[in-house]
Amino acid sequence: MRPARALIDLDALRHNYRLARSRHGGRALAVVKANAYGHGAVACARALAPEVDGFAVAFLEEALELRAAGIDQPILLLEGIFDADELDEVVRHDLWMVVHHAEQIRIIDHAKPALPLDVWLKVNSGMNRAGFMPHELRAAWQRLKDNGRVGNITLMTHFARADEPHVLSTPEQVAAFDAATRDLPGPRSLANSGAILGWPDAHRDWGRPGILLYGADPMPGAANGLRPVMTLESAVMAIREIPAGAPLGYGARFHAERPTRVGLVAMGYADGYPRTVPDGTPVAVDDLRTRLIGRVSMDMLTVDLTDLPDARLGSRVELWGNNIPVNRIAEAANTIAYELLCNVKRVRFEYTD
Ligand SMILES: Cc1ncc(COP(=O)(O)O)c(C=O)c1O
Repeated sequence: MRPARALIDLDALRHNYRLARSRHGGRALAVVKANAYGHGAVACARALAPEVDGFAVAFLEEALELRAAGIDQPILLLEGIFDADELDEVVRHDLWMVVHHAEQIRIIDHAKPALPLDVWLKVNSGMNRAGFMPHELRAAWQRLKDNGRVGNITLMTHFARADEPHVLSTPEQVAAFDAATRDLPGPRSLANSGAILGWPDAHRDWGRPGILLYGADPMPGAANGLRPVMTLESAVMAIREIPAGAPLGYGARFHAERPTRVGLVAMGYADGYPRTVPDGTPVAVDDLRTRLIGRVSMDMLTVDLTDLPDARLGSRVELWGNNIPVNRIAEAANTIAYELLCNVKRVRFEYTD
């Protein structure tokens, strides 16, 4: 059997959720959108269910997958509804929804939902991606109240740069949110992972941790005590000696500087390991660090075993996990851990509880 697999440590996931909840105070929605950032939404939600305050997903289908798996905790749709039919499903499955633009209020006004809706009204406090402008907020809130079918209204916003501790954009967004919502009642929710860990002034009634649940610190190097949840690993499936000067792999990007013992590993960009990483990117073979050499292929990649005489066929190769932080690979690939984790596919997923 091909040895490529993603090991998912559900105990680490729970540890990270507890850490988020205690650092933030109040309650915390576990963000499990995008298949729990690539970790498996149902398995992750089940692992958190006994202690979680609720979940957040991006859209209806993601919520329905959780409901079908027996998850009965609150689930918030971060993008809200796209049409009136979705509103029926929201009511049927007792979901919470973000309202971030006027068309969604119009849909609610025209529908006659049987139960009071739980709405999270989103303020654009400066990210300028989604949400009502501060000057529009009061009217939006009033329309929801006047509608008569809206129960709780939670006030929320989202930060653009919470993972940048030396940039003042987050406190500016907090101030803009506070000013826009000053006279409005109801719980508040501001903080994503970066703000939970780095901006205590942004803590309110609900945190919304995402990436930190999966153990990738949004401020790499900050020593926040997160535990990696996914280990992406495979094994050495062939070993070859190449002489100094010999090219290796597609495009002959790498040339051996010395006689080199090359390990061929069953993992490639079709599995989600990024093709863009350079020679020298760290990998761990039997828990010892070495380097990737040569371009990553679709199903295979090559590593330097010259200084690892004990490495052999079948040696375990960690691409990221406890030895190699996923943030380190994201940096090498000029992207973020979010994208790498979401992209893992085709490998076997194995869960430990
Ligand atoms: C509205 C909202 N809240 C919370 C999160 C979680 O963010 P993070 O993964 O940075 O914690 C996201 C993710 O993008 C989001 O869109």
